[in-house]
Amino acid sequence: MAHDVYISAEEIKNRISQLGEQISRDYQGKHLDVVCVLCGSFVFAADLVRQIQVPQTVSFIGASSYHGGTETSGQVEITLDLKHDIKGREILLVEDIVDTGITLTHLRQLLLKRSPKSLKLASLLHKPSRTVSPVHIDYLGFTIEDHFVIGYGLDYDGRFRELPHIGIYRGE
Ligand code: IMP
Repeated sequence: MAHDVYISAEEIKNRISQLGEQISRDYQGKHLDVVCVLCGSFVFAADLVRQIQVPQTVSFIGASSYHGGTETSGQVEITLDLKHDIKGREILLVEDIVDTGITLTHLRQLLLKRSPKSLKLASLLHKPSRTVSPVHIDYLGFTIEDHFVIGYGLDYDGRFRELPHIGIYRGE
C-alpha cells in the first residue's frame, strides 16, 4: 500500500456540503462564474458545483508548476486559458490545494488584470507550513500538515487521482 488514508470520503463529502451552503448564501441573487484549476481540482469542483444552489457557469484554466515528483518548480505555466471574457463577472477560482501559494498568486494576478467584478478562492486543502506566497482562501475545506497528499484529484506523477479519499503518499 503506497498511502495511508488521511481524510475519508465521508469527511470530504460533509465538508463540501457545508462549503456549498456557505457559497450559495454568499452569492444569493448573483450569477457565479466558477473557474476550476486543472488538473487537480476536477474531482473537488465536480462535487462542489453540485452543492451550489445559484445560477452558475463552469469553466477550466490549466496551470502547472510541477514537472513530476513532489517539489514545485516555482515557475507557473498556463497550459489552458479561459475562452471567455471575465470582465464584470463574479469569479470563484476552485483549486485542489494551496501549498506554497505560488500558483494561486500567479493565477489571481492574471485574472485580476481582466477586471472581474469579484474574485474569490475555494480550495479543498491548505498546507500553511509551506507558504512562500500568501493567498487568502475564502472557502477552505481542510488545513493539513506538511504531507505530500494524493487522491480525490491530487496526483503523484499523474497517478492516484481516482482515489475517493485523501491519502498521505508513502512511496512505492
Ligand atoms: P503551489 O503553487 O505550491 O501552491 O502548488 C499548487 C499545486 O501544486 C497544486 O495545485 C497541486 O497540483 C500541486 N501540489 C501541491 N502540494 C501537493 C500535494 O501534496 N499533493 C499533490 N499535489 C500537490
